[in-house]
Amino acid sequence: MTQNKNISVSQMMEKMQNQMNLPPHAYYFDTTLRDGEQTHGIVFNMNEKLEIARSLDNLGIDVIEAGFPVVSDGDFQACKEIVKLGLKAEIAGLARLNQQDIDCAVDADLDAIHVFIATSDLHLKNKLKMTQDQVLSKIESYVSKAKENFTNVVFSAEDATRTNLDFLIKCNELAVNSGATRINIPDTVGTITPMAYGYIIKEHYNKLPKNIRISAHCHNDFGLGVANTIAAFENGASEAQTTILGLGERAGNAAFEETAMSLYALYGLKSNIIYNKIYPTAKLVERYCGGKISIGRLTPLIGKNAFSHESGIHAHAMIQNARTYEPISPSLLGIPRSDSKSAIVAQSIKLGKHTGNHALRAKINEIGIIPTDEQFSTIRNNIKRIGDKGHEIREEDFLAIVKDVMGEIPEQEKFVILEELTVLTGSVTPTATVRLKIRNNGDFIERIASSIGNGPVDASINAIVKCFSKMSKILLLSFDIEAITGGTDALGHVSIEVEDIETNNIVSSNATHEDVVMSAVLAMIKALNKLVREKNSSQA
Ligand code: KIV
Ligand code: ZN
Repeated sequence: MTQNKNISVSQMMEKMQNQMNLPPHAYYFDTTLRDGEQTHGIVFNMNEKLEIARSLDNLGIDVIEAGFPVVSDGDFQACKEIVKLGLKAEIAGLARLNQQDIDCAVDADLDAIHVFIATSDLHLKNKLKMTQDQVLSKIESYVSKAKENFTNVVFSAEDATRTNLDFLIKCNELAVNSGATRINIPDTVGTITPMAYGYIIKEHYNKLPKNIRISAHCHNDFGLGVANTIAAFENGASEAQTTILGLGERAGNAAFEETAMSLYALYGLKSNIIYNKIYPTAKLVERYCGGKISIGRLTPLIGKNAFSHESGIHAHAMIQNARTYEPISPSLLGIPRSDSKSAIVAQSIKLGKHTGNHALRAKINEIGIIPTDEQFSTIRNNIKRIGDKGHEIREEDFLAIVKDVMGEIPEQEKFVILEELTVLTGSVTPTATVRLKIRNNGDFIERIASSIGNGPVDASINAIVKCFSKMSKILLLSFDIEAITGGTDALGHVSIEVEDIETNNIVSSNATHEDVVMSAVLAMIKALNKLVREKNSSQA
């Protein structure tokens, strides 16, 4: 070890990588629409599947597993329709080693077939009721049958990582000799560890012909899905079977976002992936999960906290140079935030009890305000007091605190101003008309729109979205209403979350008013102002 004393960590990593069997190119086989859709509670409709397939293709995915055609008519039709899109990606479908499944895959017009059979003693005894010899004979006959119809045949020995290694290699060699062009090694119940998985992959890499692509398929039961997939690449695998957001059976599969970014940013592997499409694709899939699966705050790379900084020391350093506390720029993943000082201050410096003076001053200046020393310390004390109570200080809370101390936010900071709202409700279809003033290159332009809705609030929100549609496409993600005081004159407090579909930026806002429709409208106007402000600062 002494000879390594004077080398940097990155030189050390490079040295270690040179001793690995890293492939020259990483391929990605996406199984969001097959294993991912096996996530309990998740079903994508046909349009969503087509949209996901298009996005995966734009992302640069090499193989899209479109479904398991024999499982349902929906899967069968989805496979057929995805093939008809004529994408660059190869479209594959899953099949067991039997005639019906293979015929169904042929009828679905797929480009490639992914066949599988379980090989572990546990599965042979309890599920298949077959001997090892019977499994071998199935592999021989049905991989050959699959090969009669498909140039590309992927073979998976299900529960590979709990299979006797000699038998596993025998199965995979036989699959290759019967026509399989790719060998996938599934860690079906996520029980392998990186070194052991690496060993299994290396054994295959040393024994299988070099033109056979070895792929990793790792479930995340112990949270090791991505680590195991990376270990596979270190030992000769060149393809990762992954899902967007890590969707999949039980705790899911290795997440594509983490796998692809690690192999690219930490190992320098080339691939066909267009990395800045990762975040938009993840958000699209999240949206189609309909609230059943959401990106967690702490989710690596794409979670809300992944590029947020609160503590004084971190925030101060971030303002000088983003690499101090961010390993990569979020823009690399397509997250709409540049590394400019103003974008970092506006979007990534969060306030709370750990906030330092430097970051707070930068944040106040960012909204065009220069407080006196006394005003600054009042703002600072208010933020610390609220933070100390364990409350999250969101952007709108910050603006409210500043406004409290300094008076109204200057008019020049507003991009969208509500001029007029008229609502017609009762026994007629609820209809709302809004007149907005929208700032456009320094001047304000007026926009008027009317819309109907399920109620007066819905109609008003729809009218605002319509009014704003020439500027940006806006989606209302969540809407929460609560009465603050009792009685018919109760104050209505509305909290909303709104997304700019083009930038994928999400902001939250809230407002309180004695008229609940006005609460909703004011919250929406605040959110639009925030979206425009953040968009402008990320482009700065
Ligand atoms: O996890 C698994 O074993 C699978 C196979 C069908 C490849 O999904
Ligand atoms: Zn799986």
